[in-house]
Amino acid sequence: MSPRPHKLIPPSFSPTPSRAPENAVGILVVNDLSTGLDLVGVAVEPDGSVPAAVGVDFATLANAGFRGEVGQTILLPQQNGPATLVFGVGAAEARTAAALRDVIASFARAAGAYARIGVDLRETFSLEQAVIGQMIAEGALLSRYRYTPLKADPKHVPLVSLDILAAAGDAQDVTAGTRRGEILARATNLARDLANTPPGHLTATDMGDVALEVGAAHGLDVEVFDKQQLIELGCGGLLGVNAGSVEEPRMIQLRYTPKADNGAAIEPTGHLALVGKGIMYDSGGISLKPSDPMHLAMKMDMAGAAAVLGAMTALADLSCPTAVTAFLMCTDNMPSGSATVLGDVLTLRGGTTVEVKNTDAEGRLVLSDALVLASEEHPDAIVDIATLTGAALMALGTKTAAVIGNDQGVIDRAVASSKATDESIWQLPLERSYRKQLDSDVADISNMGGKYAGATIAALFLADFVGDIPWAHLDIAGTMQVEADESWRPKGATGFGTRLLVDLAEHFTK
Ligand code: BES
Ligand code: ZN
Ligand code: ZN
Repeated sequence: MSPRPHKLIPPSFSPTPSRAPENAVGILVVNDLSTGLDLVGVAVEPDGSVPAAVGVDFATLANAGFRGEVGQTILLPQQNGPATLVFGVGAAEARTAAALRDVIASFARAAGAYARIGVDLRETFSLEQAVIGQMIAEGALLSRYRYTPLKADPKHVPLVSLDILAAAGDAQDVTAGTRRGEILARATNLARDLANTPPGHLTATDMGDVALEVGAAHGLDVEVFDKQQLIELGCGGLLGVNAGSVEEPRMIQLRYTPKADNGAAIEPTGHLALVGKGIMYDSGGISLKPSDPMHLAMKMDMAGAAAVLGAMTALADLSCPTAVTAFLMCTDNMPSGSATVLGDVLTLRGGTTVEVKNTDAEGRLVLSDALVLASEEHPDAIVDIATLTGAALMALGTKTAAVIGNDQGVIDRAVASSKATDESIWQLPLERSYRKQLDSDVADISNMGGKYAGATIAALFLADFVGDIPWAHLDIAGTMQVEADESWRPKGATGFGTRLLVDLAEHFTK
């Protein structure tokens, strides 16, 4: 067995900050914006008042179609000194935290040709100063992200610095908010890097190496299980999906334990388990996907695992009070002479037998081993995240993910986190009467039901493996990528769920 040859062509994935300059953006809260900037952004409200420094009045801006709405920007080059970019902030009653993130994302994207930028919000948003700082950092760092390591000339101006104008009395709170925003954006951009990286440059084995490296840098205990160890653990789902591949599978376990500032362990407020689908490339296996441009996106079939890994890297930095254990189930899904075929029966961790009726329904097979492993730790709740079904994409599109679970409390917590992070999710029912569609003539369960309610059927499969533990499942098949820049999501992998999972862990209660 040899690795695929293109894997040997550098550069492979490396999580070091040097390849993601966004991670190193200098964010500074200042009391004047006069020095060292290439561009200054000025907030303009729809009511028509424009700061004198802009040099033109509202009527002039309106002539160019500017109404002060969210997403509107006008670049005004200057003879001397930094360029001015006016950006709309929308109507006062709609100025939520999410709107500020959108406003700054539009501003930072419109300023895409400039490396050193400053922002003057004036007093347009009446939010807590820390929230203002966080939204500015998130909006700018998330929208200026690009995946560039494989391009000789990326034609991308990385953001180098962001100055934020604030009153002296607010500087401390705004700065604290920007630190939080930076941590969350860095975690999200790691998840994006992982999902954008081509399959040959990021195998399951590589994913294990990345987890060890970022885990060590962010206070996590990381254990990587190889094929032999997975055989010993009885993870027949992950092994069965991996059977057709020349690449070994990996199960990656990460543990975060809350600690006091002096490093002493403290009593966690609860114990949460996270599970991520890590299909490094989903060809469909023997049930080979028919040729379609969509299959380019199947390198992102590990976006769930990427979101979990990204989220885990933020917990220590944010002093999350909840203990979190994560399981990433990593392999590609390939056809070959050794692949699992239709009608084969796999034995999952815990002994349940599964008849494989479609090898393209592989996500539920790898997740179920992990759900059993997670259950064995008796956590207070389990949340899994997976690019699981085309049905979730069909039902909810690319903006909203599906949430399905066995416990309304955990689902409501996920929905609350989704509102806080502006990562939209919508509950679909765990309709138990459909469970009989998964009955098998030869095994305990089959991996495919009928043609309707695909997202619910997949969740019903998973539900068999969590027992009575409160559980919610996020199906991010639709939201894992966007096809064009929109607000804080640049074209490509979105990192969807990373910030949601961090917020959920931070606010989790038994
Ligand atoms: N990874 C796919 C789901 C997917 C589809 C993710 C589109 C992102 C965008 C998953 O493994 C899959 O192929 N699911 C099948 C299940 C079916 C065979 C029961 C599907 O949804 O068609
Ligand atoms: Zn599949
Ligand atoms: Zn898949």
